[in-house]
Amino acid sequence: MSIVEELIEQLREIQREGEAAVAAAGGAQELEALRVEYVGRKGGRLTAVLRRLGELGQDERPAVGAEANRVKDALSALLDQREAGFAVARSGPRVDLTLPGRERWKGGLHPVTQVVEEICDIFRDLGFTRVAGPEVETVEYNFSKLNTPLDHPAADMHDTFYLDDGIVLRTHTSPVQAHVMEQFQPPVRVVVPGAVYRRDPFDASHAPAFEQLEGLAVDEGITFADFKATITAFIHRFFGGAVPVRFRPSFFPFTEPSAEVDVRCQICGGGGCAACKHTGWMEIMGSGMVHPNVFANCGYDPEKYTGYAFGMGPGRIAMQRYGVTDIRLLYEGDMRFLGQFS
Ligand code: DAH
Repeated sequence: MSIVEELIEQLREIQREGEAAVAAAGGAQELEALRVEYVGRKGGRLTAVLRRLGELGQDERPAVGAEANRVKDALSALLDQREAGFAVARSGPRVDLTLPGRERWKGGLHPVTQVVEEICDIFRDLGFTRVAGPEVETVEYNFSKLNTPLDHPAADMHDTFYLDDGIVLRTHTSPVQAHVMEQFQPPVRVVVPGAVYRRDPFDASHAPAFEQLEGLAVDEGITFADFKATITAFIHRFFGGAVPVRFRPSFFPFTEPSAEVDVRCQICGGGGCAACKHTGWMEIMGSGMVHPNVFANCGYDPEKYTGYAFGMGPGRIAMQRYGVTDIRLLYEGDMRFLGQFS
């Protein structure tokens, strides 16, 4: 091997070793030491090779010199690059102030929650206290105390989530009426928002878990006229203006007489649409005068007290207000939909 070949081979060996050492370096100080060791002017390994240029003939020197420069540039570039990396790590990520800002993601209340809050606010002004009750109930509270026989369709295994013998996920918020009456003496006026559960399919108009809002007012001398006035005031305030309201005879085991309350469909204005099943009316709650048996079951004297109760679906009411035609939109958590309400 000629001296030229030997020196070039040495230079390449230095490059290989240098690259490996720089790649493995763990910090800026180590890099600095490597810079001195490999490309340092005095005592660097490249310099040591260049010192031997004197052993070569004039015409042989340029080839070795050029190779030495190439190796020096390659190693220097690598050292610079890794050094810059450590510098960034020391000063944290760089911030480019010319980039457009990122809008902060802001959460909001779910439309059904907003409607619940608004309903409770209106009833607070009307003298009602907001209370809560358990979502896991006994059959006794969910059905029996409410004068609902266990052969009632709502008590059916197919309509109810039974957890255990005698324990169910409540199918309505009405059992909270019983809890309230057992704990407080009249006069009582409460509203009770909360989740309820039914073995319903998840389709455009049903959900297996949804929100209800119960109301109860009991005192001496309360009549159906009080109920009509209170509910009409609520509806007019909630929907804004003298929206037509209709009280339609119905049946519930825990009220007598019972009524469904309808409002003029807010989606079609009464002309008829798919949302109101072409009736022009939207049912928003079940209601009635509390059945004397319910009072007796809960320790109130049915001879002394009367009262009214109602149960509405804030989800349905939200659909009316916002023109939503598929209930699933309210419960599947799609941010493209929910983002419109915050
Ligand atoms: N609990 C009934 C339901 O879920 C709604 C209801 C009807 C509640 C009449 C009441 C009432 O308080 O008086 O279908």
